Amino acid sequence: MSEVVKLERHDEVGIVTVNSPPVNALSAAVRGGILECIKAAVADPAIKGIVLTCAGRTFIAGADITEFGKPPKAPALNDVLSEIENSPKPVVAAIHGTALGGGLEVALACHFRVAVKEAKLGLPEVKLGLLPGAGGTQRLPRAVGPELAVKMIVGGDPIGAAEALKNGLIEEIVEGPASGGEAFVRKLLAEKRPLRRLRDDDSKLAAAKADRSIFTNAVAAMTKKSRGLEAPFAAADAVGYAIDFPFDEGLKKEREGFLKLVASDQSKAQRYAFFAEREAAKIAGVPEGTKSRPVNRVAILGAGTMGGGIAMSFANAGVPVTLIETGEEQLKRGLGIMQKNWEATAARGGIPADAPAKRMALITGVVGIENVGDADLVIEAVFETMAVKKEVFGKLDQFAKPGAVLASNTSYLNIDEIAKSTKRPQDVLGMHFFSPANVMKLCEIVRADKTAPDALVTAVTIARKIAKVPAVVGVCDGFVGNRMLAQRGKQSEKLLFEGALPQQVDAVVTKFGMPMGPFAMGDLAGLDIGWRSRKDRGIKSEIADALCEAGRFGQKTGKGYYKYEAGSRSALPDPEVEKLIDETLARLGRKKRAVSDEEILERMMYPMINEGAKILEEGIAARPSDIDVVWLYGYGWPIYRGGPMFWADTVGLKHIADRLSFYAKETNDPSLEPAPLLKKLAAEGKTFASLAAASKAA
Ligand code: COA
Repeated sequence: MSEVVKLERHDEVGIVTVNSPPVNALSAAVRGGILECIKAAVADPAIKGIVLTCAGRTFIAGADITEFGKPPKAPALNDVLSEIENSPKPVVAAIHGTALGGGLEVALACHFRVAVKEAKLGLPEVKLGLLPGAGGTQRLPRAVGPELAVKMIVGGDPIGAAEALKNGLIEEIVEGPASGGEAFVRKLLAEKRPLRRLRDDDSKLAAAKADRSIFTNAVAAMTKKSRGLEAPFAAADAVGYAIDFPFDEGLKKEREGFLKLVASDQSKAQRYAFFAEREAAKIAGVPEGTKSRPVNRVAILGAGTMGGGIAMSFANAGVPVTLIETGEEQLKRGLGIMQKNWEATAARGGIPADAPAKRMALITGVVGIENVGDADLVIEAVFETMAVKKEVFGKLDQFAKPGAVLASNTSYLNIDEIAKSTKRPQDVLGMHFFSPANVMKLCEIVRADKTAPDALVTAVTIARKIAKVPAVVGVCDGFVGNRMLAQRGKQSEKLLFEGALPQQVDAVVTKFGMPMGPFAMGDLAGLDIGWRSRKDRGIKSEIADALCEAGRFGQKTGKGYYKYEAGSRSALPDPEVEKLIDETLARLGRKKRAVSDEEILERMMYPMINEGAKILEEGIAARPSDIDVVWLYGYGWPIYRGGPMFWADTVGLKHIADRLSFYAKETNDPSLEPAPLLKKLAAEGKTFASLAAASKAA
């Protein structure tokens, strides 16, 4: 008998229970166990109906992602599903937690489905660069119609039990999965209800068969934001097979589409990103079993853009917040912006209509830092200078309760230095959120010299609770993300002095898949900030300085590296900028040359990877995958390229090291010389991934 799947009999009902923690993924053992138990239940004359349910926190959460790309092991999921669907006795899937991917496909092969009210059902394969490969694209449209099927399969987001009930995906909402499933089977048997095999039921496809635009319109709406991705389009095609072909043929074509995607570089990158994100939550060097301190209330200092966004993230997750400002006026403004923001989301249908009021009720706005006393975690988002931060932390030392975690949201300042202004450096760390903080998922958790392990665990745990992706980093100027970005910034500026234009550089970067190029990003952030800071430090950057001297501060003044029409954020190339660049180069006696797109891409990306190698050498990031997580969730690195370090491995480290050496000489820039770690890996023919494997083995 299977270890992970059991069959019990309650009178005439056979209960098949999958028990394979943590998430009952469909490993070969689980597939084999289900097959065996369904066969046994069908063969047992005492059993008249079957419930398929799961132990632990969730129904089957999908295929076992670790098996993808490895030689297939019997039994194939489709064979298991045929066995279920062909059962002459009714099989009911009883769902709790998340029925995702292969899990929902199992449920769709059952004749009926019931779920508890908190359950979520979805086919998220597209988020891993895949499409559902075991009938999901054929059975779901037959269950709910092609429109919702396209939304779920091409978009990848799950739906709740109530929506599933409304659309015919489940028959009933039940109290407990196993008991509810059992009661439902008894009812079926009493009613002698005929089996419903989705593969044989085309009724919900009829409308789209008659008018294909029902399907194509749904696809167009869902693929609008899928630039650069292969899977959403392939997944949409697969749903189309359900409309255009008989079930068995559709199933065959779906399988072909799945096999193509599973071998694709995009899906490999997306699967890597899935595990990188989860790996990042495991903190290197913290004693096993270290527990988070309890966090029941958070205080946030500063109700500006950052502080407000951070406060919203906590309230979104139901955590009470004390929002602290220095004056009534600033507080009122901050609270007003938050309320407006939520109301706009509610008006778009993104959150329930009563959510803005509920979330505002979680936020207590007060004036004065002395009000931090109730908070278990304090995050300061005040003015970004060391003197101000030190003053604030000195006061926190005075007013925060003992054991409260004290976090700075600084984007580059030295946390060790900040910690020195308290008598409790063990409680001090960085929590660097990214703007807009209520949207961006990354939180760099900065571990300072004296940060206590449980303070660190507290920050990582709470970050996950508020749906952020934490990545633990060490103290250095700009931490991981901004430190690497600075290298790109330096090269993008140099490229202008050599003959490239802002729009050429930005186009290469966005074509690669980043949401914005460096110059459009500068315009968005405001060019005056860097200008002022350069002035303070006595540094010059002739082109950027000339723009600012001409009053071109970026989007806020309608002009920067680009021009902007009133009320628009579209960056338009501006001949005046070209002229200004030409004049500056002429004044400095610089000659322009044609810069190729290939050179631009290499000079944008390779210096960042070089810096990433230094970051690893210095131990600022524990794993290459942590660096990738920072870029995926903080800077919009395209998920189908896995992150800069993953991408570097696909390009080849020797090539990157050679090109860096070349540019170091060619542009007379020693900072481009390959870092020792990059050189070493390149010489040994190794990858960054080999470092992660080695550290796991250690
Ligand atoms: N295959 C293999 N391992 C999986 C898995 C899967 N389908 N889904 C989750 N896991 C692992 C995670 O890697 C993690 O392992 P770890 O503890 O060693 O890091 C563990 O299960 C728990 O997952 P986690 O995501 O941390 O838990 P959660 O409760 O926050 O979320 C899920 C649970 C199921 C919602 C989430 O894991 C998920 O979305 N999984 C993928 C579902 C999916 O895409 N299925 C379709 C596959 S084709």
